[in-house]
Amino acid sequence: MAKRQRSQVERYHDRVAGLYDTIYDGDPYWEVVFQITWRHLLRHFPKDMGTRCLDVGCGTGRWGMRFAKAGYRTDFLDISRKMLDQVGGKLAALGRPRSDIFAMPGAPRPDLPDDSRPLLWHAALDDLSALPSGAYGFIVWQGDPLNCAEKPGKAFREMARLLAPGGVMAMSVDNRLQGIYHYFKDGDVKGLAEFLRTGKTNWITDDPEERYRITMFTPGQIRAMCRERGLELVSLVGKTVLPLRRFRGLLDDPGKRAELTRLEESLHAEEALFANAAHLEFIARKPERHVSRQFDA
Ligand SMILES: C[S@@+](CC[C@H](N)C(=O)[O-])C[C@H]1O[C@@H](n2cnc3c(N)ncnc32)[C@H](O)[C@@H]1O
Repeated sequence: MAKRQRSQVERYHDRVAGLYDTIYDGDPYWEVVFQITWRHLLRHFPKDMGTRCLDVGCGTGRWGMRFAKAGYRTDFLDISRKMLDQVGGKLAALGRPRSDIFAMPGAPRPDLPDDSRPLLWHAALDDLSALPSGAYGFIVWQGDPLNCAEKPGKAFREMARLLAPGGVMAMSVDNRLQGIYHYFKDGDVKGLAEFLRTGKTNWITDDPEERYRITMFTPGQIRAMCRERGLELVSLVGKTVLPLRRFRGLLDDPGKRAELTRLEESLHAEEALFANAAHLEFIARKPERHVSRQFDA
């Protein structure tokens, strides 16, 4: 990952780390999104209590902390040291010691402790070479960290390497189909053509020093990435296919919230509705290793 891009991604997330949970807490739209996400993940979570989990782009540990609290051995990875500090604080509150591993690009290869403390990987998606192959039975990457990787294809390939045979990954990405309107609004037809070709655009923040390039994905691309890495695409959904964000006020009424949540979950795998969704989320499984047969000569 180019150093400038990396430092902008890191800088932005370091700045928001302390506020991050409060941005979402108490917002009915996000409460529904998180509830739906959680149910989607759990449907595909490996049953074995020995499953080792990795929360990638963990932020403040919204997902990984749930697995850790439930007793699964869970490691966390983020480019932002300050996000990892938030996770460290939550683990400390549970009385769980952890090991911090510095594995940012250019760092010498770290020694890994041989106990079962949670590992907090300070690492970037663009260089995951320090992480052990086939170690994780469940990898969650929510909140679209892949968008910020300079080479998303390489990051995805690496993540498939970390997955154990039979392991499952659950990932959300920004939906390219949702970026189109922005270019129409600005009358930028040339920009639109380029965006549709590459999926690359800028993450807009007030401070130009914190702006960085992101990649948005199409459903077809997700299928292709899984196919190329030999992963079985188990589920692909839009988040959210109903206009729940725009009409979030409806979600204040418990009865309407329950009904809209039910409707959303009944529709979110409908491909025809994917263009409505800000995010695409998918679950992919790595097949069990094939046992090679021995034949007599
Ligand atoms: C939008 S937050 C999502 C946090 C959390 N997963 C959640 O769902 O609440 C994205 C996280 O990905 C991390 N991230 C972004 N780019 C990354 C990269 N290239 N390598 C590792 N982490 C990255 C950010 O620091 C941030 O914590």
